[in-house]
Amino acid sequence: MGLFKIRKTCHNISMQKYQITGGHKLSGEIKVAGAKNAALKIMAASILSKEICAIHNTPDIEDINRMAEILENIGAKIKRENSTLTIDPSGINKSNPDPNLIHRLRSSMMLAGPLLAKFGEVTMAHPGGCIIGQRPIDMFLAGFKNMGAHLYEHEEFFTLKAGKLKGAKIVLPWVSVTVTESLMMTACLAEGATRIINAAMEPEIPALAQYLNNHGAKISGAGTSVITIEGVEKISAGEYQLIPDRIEAGSFAMLGLITDSEIKITNCQPEHLETELLMLKKAGADLEIGVDYIITKKSKLHGVELRTHEYPGFSTDLQAPFTVLMTQANGQSLIHETIYEGRLFYTDKLVQMGANIIMCDPHRVIVSGPTKLMGKKLESPDLRAGMALILAGLVAEGRTTIENIYQIERGYEDIVSRLQNLNGKINKIEE
Ligand code: EPU
Repeated sequence: MGLFKIRKTCHNISMQKYQITGGHKLSGEIKVAGAKNAALKIMAASILSKEICAIHNTPDIEDINRMAEILENIGAKIKRENSTLTIDPSGINKSNPDPNLIHRLRSSMMLAGPLLAKFGEVTMAHPGGCIIGQRPIDMFLAGFKNMGAHLYEHEEFFTLKAGKLKGAKIVLPWVSVTVTESLMMTACLAEGATRIINAAMEPEIPALAQYLNNHGAKISGAGTSVITIEGVEKISAGEYQLIPDRIEAGSFAMLGLITDSEIKITNCQPEHLETELLMLKKAGADLEIGVDYIITKKSKLHGVELRTHEYPGFSTDLQAPFTVLMTQANGQSLIHETIYEGRLFYTDKLVQMGANIIMCDPHRVIVSGPTKLMGKKLESPDLRAGMALILAGLVAEGRTTIENIYQIERGYEDIVSRLQNLNGKINKIEE
């Protein structure tokens, strides 16, 4: 792969499907890509500076390409060379990105704060993204208002106006990853100190703080529930090596276990997955865990009770593959999704495949296993449920076809070849 421009369109991805023949053992190694949810935030933070930023280990996925399109739309120059994404923000000259681009990516909301800090004004459409709940933006807006911005709300978009933003004490009513990150980066260019109380603690947050601190910011406490940001005059920019994607690593561990295979997951940081690995072990998984790898071993799994929680709890993004795994475990599992109200509806697709799952309410399901899954034609409802359906397809008897793969390719780079390298019987087809 050489130097190339960001892909503008989603090709004819809507016509493409994954076809999976299940029931085969996997073997070999799979390398974890850089973290999508860290890359998107560094991309947004690039607006705070006029200097060039180079993000290494950036996955080539649809969400990154969509974010790149928005940055280009407001005047940035972006190029990709292998896994390095270079952003030149010096030409950014507008603070009202094209609504059609904003709608396609929930993380586009990350751009509002930096644009407000840079221009004293931003106009943006309500963001789009995964349909996994209501996903409001009230906490972002309240945070900006706390820093002195005036909000003008319209049906389809909002405008925020401020002179120079002012540091403030911001208490979040509940923990939110992107709100924490957004306010943290915006506060870097505010006058005085900002304190974010009840901040999220996901590893992507200290990663972002480290990048900003390396380039002139004064952030302390990132990775804890109270973050303090001393405003500075200027943020510079430079190189950044992305942390590995903990959600990929966890999903691949579950992939090895569900197919009863020994696979080695490399280039990962298991210390970012403590609770998830503990829960797998509680369910009977035999895992070898190194500093930067995980090896799955043949395991006899049994049902457990799982509750998703903000970091360092069990990630909501790994709930779907874990639920699929529990369809192959002995006994009952109670899966309690506490973060999103719409993130268990994919389980009806597992039921179509033969799983025994009862939905108690939108937040809880009971899985009884083990049950044989049968291949089916399915549509991927969202990114993480899409990966879960791949796992289900790889363990099911017969052929599974997955449609709406754009949702999967939003977050997993070249997943078909990487699974083929593990001997997974998966192909991308066009119909
Ligand atoms: N919320 C509000 N108001 C707001 C913002 C959020 O009420 O203004 C609520 C949400 O509705 C939700 C809760 O706060 O109930 C937590 O959502 P959060 O804001 O933490 O989610 P997010 O920041 O939008 C990030 C990840 C998600 C991941 C969650 C885990 C990014 C780009 N997205 O989302 O990742 O599931 O944190 O909390 O970092 C994914 O990668 O597939 C994905 C969805």
